[in-house]
Amino acid sequence: MKGLFLTLEGIDGAGKSSHIDALEALFKAQGRQVTRTREPGGTPIAETLRTMILTQPMDPLTESLLVFAARRDHIVRVIEPALARGEVVLCDRFTDATFAYQGAGRGFDAAVLSTLEQWVQGRPDDGALLQPDITLWFDLSPELAAERLAGARLPDKFESQPVEFFRRVAAGYAQRAAAAATRFVRIDAGQSRDQVWQQIEAALAARGLMGSR
Ligand code: TMP
Repeated sequence: MKGLFLTLEGIDGAGKSSHIDALEALFKAQGRQVTRTREPGGTPIAETLRTMILTQPMDPLTESLLVFAARRDHIVRVIEPALARGEVVLCDRFTDATFAYQGAGRGFDAAVLSTLEQWVQGRPDDGALLQPDITLWFDLSPELAAERLAGARLPDKFESQPVEFFRRVAAGYAQRAAAAATRFVRIDAGQSRDQVWQQIEAALAARGLMGSR
């Protein structure tokens, strides 16, 4: 069976993480093996880098290099082997987050990010990029996301950014979605949890990923 690489994206507070359990259960019910992971993170090295990235102030190039270093280790050790075994890889964030946060949010040069993406995700033989098969983009207004985040837990470096930062990040996601319209599924994350799940099911069904039910 062919592997499936599914990512979840959106600004902090958009609610993507609360649907990962259900996604895992859905694919397991179809008899599929599921590797559940996240970025930055997913390996011991990448989790160490995650702590640095989320806690230390740094310039945007340093941040981008660390994010892509973490990604490289994650791809080589976890994502590619799981896909080669035919598994479903459920990954909480991937490179779209780098273009949205470091690129649009922090204003870092998207051309440099594209070069790093090519180095880290390019196949050695033909340069084809490893990309998710499907990206669920939880789209929520930055104001609503801030309300949801308020008081939830101690905010990390990004979560404590002002709402203007998240307006830029949200615009970055919208731009990525427009450029990869067949890969991206926009989920209206302002709806109730049940309605959000229904949108996810509908998107998977439209791609023949709901099994034979
Ligand atoms: P999480 O809280 O959804 O696990 O995401 C961790 C934070 O890291 C989130 O604020 C977004 C940020 N991030 C980046 O800035 N660049 C990236 O490439 C990734 C994957 C995450």
